[in-house]
Parts: sequence; C-alpha cells; structure tokens
Amino acid sequence: MNQQNSSETTEWWRGATLYHIYVRSFQDANADGHGDIQGIIDRLEYLEWLGVDALWLSPTMPSPNRDWGYDVADYENVQSDLGDLATLDRLITQAGERGMKVMLDLVANHTSSEHPWFLDARSSRDSEHRSYYVWADGKEDGSLPNNWVDDTGEVAWTLDEQTGQYYFHNFLDAQPDLNWWDERVHAEFARIMDFWYRRGVAGFRIDVANGLYKDRLLRDNPVDPRAVIYNTEVQGRYGIEHKYNFNQPETHQVYRDWRAAAEQFDPPRLLLGETWVARVDELTPYYGDGDELQLGFNFPLIFAPFEPQALARIVRESFASFPAGSATVWAGSNHDLPRMSTRWAQNDEGRLRLAHTVLATLPGTYALYYGDELGMVDSDIPSDLQQDPLTAGGLNGQWPRDNARAPMRWNETDDGAFTAGTPWLPIHPDAAVNVERQRSDPRSVLHLVRDLIALHSEHLGAGAEYVEVEVTDERWIYRSGELLVVANFADAPLEAPRERGELLLASRASENGGQVLPWSAAVYRAAE
Ligand code: NOJ
Repeated sequence: MNQQNSSETTEWWRGATLYHIYVRSFQDANADGHGDIQGIIDRLEYLEWLGVDALWLSPTMPSPNRDWGYDVADYENVQSDLGDLATLDRLITQAGERGMKVMLDLVANHTSSEHPWFLDARSSRDSEHRSYYVWADGKEDGSLPNNWVDDTGEVAWTLDEQTGQYYFHNFLDAQPDLNWWDERVHAEFARIMDFWYRRGVAGFRIDVANGLYKDRLLRDNPVDPRAVIYNTEVQGRYGIEHKYNFNQPETHQVYRDWRAAAEQFDPPRLLLGETWVARVDELTPYYGDGDELQLGFNFPLIFAPFEPQALARIVRESFASFPAGSATVWAGSNHDLPRMSTRWAQNDEGRLRLAHTVLATLPGTYALYYGDELGMVDSDIPSDLQQDPLTAGGLNGQWPRDNARAPMRWNETDDGAFTAGTPWLPIHPDAAVNVERQRSDPRSVLHLVRDLIALHSEHLGAGAEYVEVEVTDERWIYRSGELLVVANFADAPLEAPRERGELLLASRASENGGQVLPWSAAVYRAAE
C-alpha cells in the first residue's frame, strides 16, 4: 500500500458523485431481457462522459432472486444471470481506467433461505449453523413469539415445521435474518468483505444498515397507530414501531470493526449505509465518533416534502449533528421509492432541474439513480407484469417498486437499445426521454446534470461548508463552500442577492440579470 495521505485521495467520496445502477435495468448485453455486468462495461464510455466517480451496483451475488439479489445464496461469487467473477473483475479494471470506482451492495442483515448456512440451520436444532439465525419458540398458548411484523406488513415469524421453531425475517420469509449475537457471523462477514476488497471493490453500500442486531430478549414492539408506509414515520409502519428489530445499539460495534478493516486499505474502503431512518438524530449515531460508517444515505431528506423549509431543516440539522467533518449522501431516488421526478417534481421538468441543482450543490456526496439524469418519471407497470415479490399486487397498500425500475432508455426505438430480447419489465413508454437525444441537446436535463457533476466536483470537495443565508416558504438561499445557491420554489421570479459573484450555472436556460426564474436555481461564485 502506498502512503498517499491527502484527504483528496483517502476521502475520494467528498465532492464525488455516485451512480446507482439497478443492474437488471441498465443494459442487457446477451439478449436475455435483463441487464448484466457486461452491459455496464459496454456503457462505461457514457458514464465517464457523465463524469461520475463511482458506480454502486445493486446486488450481484448468486441469489434465487426472490428479492432480486437481496436474498444472497453465496457471498463470494457473481449471479450467473449477471455475469461471472471474471466479468466483474473486468468491470473494476475498465471502470478504473476511466477514473471510476465500483461499489457492491452487501446484504448482511439476512441471507437467502437457500443459503447453505440456512439449509444447515433448519436441518436440526443442534446443527452447526442453527444460531446464525434468529429462532424462537411460540408462546405456551400457541401464539407467535412476539408482535413483530416484516417489511410487507405480514407476520415476521415463519414456523419451520421440521424443527418446530419459528425463524425471524424483517423482509420476506425467503430472507431469514442473521443472528448477530453469534460471533461467528461477524467472522464470516469480515472474510467476505476482505474477499471483495482484495478484488478491488472500492466499498459497500450496506443494505439495511440500521438492521443487523435484534433485541436479545425479542421484546414486543410498541404499538403505534401512525401506520403508514412512505411517510416520515418509517419506524411506525403497519401500526407497530420497529423499536426492537432495528437500530439496536450493539450494531455500532460492527461498524467500528468494519471501519477499522476498511482503513487497512489505501485508499480506505468506503462503508455507505442504507441508513433508512426518518430523523437526523437517528442517522447521526451511525457515524459514531467518526469511527463507524464514513457515509450514510440521508433518508430524512429523501422523505422530506419538496419544500424549502422542510429540506433546509434537514440539511441544517444534519450538519449540526454529525461528527465534525463527516460527509453525507444527498439523493432523491432509489430502487425502493418513487423517483424524485415524480415524487418531488410532480413530473415537471423545471422542478426536477431545481431538485438536481439543490442535491448537487450541497457539500457531501451526490447520488444519482440511473435514469434520473434524464428525468425519467415513474412508470405505471400493470400488475400482471410486475415482478417484485415484495410489493407486487400492492400487498398491504405498498407502492409497486417496479415502477421505479423500468429499463434505461438509450435511444427512442421500441427496445430503447436496452435489450435485443424481451425486456424483463416494460421499456418506459416515454420514448423522448433517452440518452441519445439528450446527449445531443445542450439544454437537456442530461446536460444540466453533467454540468452539476462537474461543478460539484470542482467546488464541493473536502472543507466545503454549508451556511444558510435565508429560507422562507418560497426560497432557499445558502452558501456551500465557495458557491452561493439561490433556489426559487415559487411561481414568481426571485431577485438574487446583490452581493453575489459570477453566475456559474442556472437550472433553467436563462437567468436574467440576477432574476432567478420560477422553480429554478442559480448558482453563483459567492462574493468575497
Ligand atoms: C433494502 C433494499 O434496498 C431493498 O430493495 C430490499 O428489498 C431490502 N433492503 C431487503 O434486502
């Protein structure tokens, strides 16, 4: 390992842009209808042109695909549908040659029910791997071990007939939760992570980062009537607060250990948590004293309404409460939620441009979900074509996640140049929203996002600080490092402050003599 120690090199994610690839939907190279790793290699030229620093791939490990790879059956290989280890190695090398790093998705909260550990665990009560999972007896009156519900709103316990005990799952019954009270589970993951680091993986997006440990006593969760999904009360879904099956204090030691291991590499490997919590004070602990995760997705911002006061409050609280010098990830979409263009921008291009501009001008890491750079809006996939077992059919009122997973459109042909086969999900009906067209149009959303990525990388590296200047119901003005951002969330134009420097970027074509157009943002060099 060489000894480059500047924070520019060791903390490459500051001022960086991450590009989140839902692998099955990005590019199909072998005409089987879903995307694959070779497809990503074939599109590296585009990603380099866009200017992103790292790619985060949705799960790539072998899986029976009950939750498209979030049910892992082998942690040290590649799902054959997507490629093989050699293809992944080639992706890492070729992305590296173009200045991009590759991150994988690590699912450590649970495995597939077809993972050999679980097959052994369920074979008998005293099998070697029994305590890798969370088992419990039913109560004497025949009722369930406790009142926990899973992510679909169904009972989180499944009876294993053969051994007469229930196993616990925070997600599907095909995704049994691991028991992190067993030290051997820690050793397994230390080995797995090291395996990938040594292949050149730059870090992990940690699935369900607020999971892992469950209450040792398996106490009943408090009943909470705010039982709705996708509002900010994410810990209170389905009428039950997830007090004892998420966010357990013991989880922090895992991240301290993982961080110490990540720091053994140069540059350090990145731990980016899917810290799915509703409030900033629940997110902050995952940074520890600067010795746990280097980054967490800022879900409180993702869940906030697209209103200046609400967004600014989360940003203010985040910078005030994270340990000094910590970074965070600003994102508006992912594969589990409606896309930001639909959720925040109501399918309006101006609002989407404003949203991208805000996300990319905050100090920290800007994360883009594939297709958002084109302004892809949610699809409306008919229920008979939906593929996602977790949300298909709208079980317990869930929003179908497939709507945010439509294949990428590379051009306006029927198959969007995504596949030469039958696409696994329908190609997005809006043929005009495609890479080819937008690349040749300097006024497109794609060009704006490309300019934002460049601006972000030039101005928002280490040391850039956020300073709020003014927030009202209609505007949000802030300094971000050497930038002054004037974001107008109103139907009328806004006068930019007189003390502003040169205009660097406007989310809408013309910023007219200091007037920021309705639903747009202008970015200036802050005046000295
Ligand atoms: C979060 C992932 O983003 C989601 O897609 C998955 O279903 C759950 N974790 C379970 O792994």
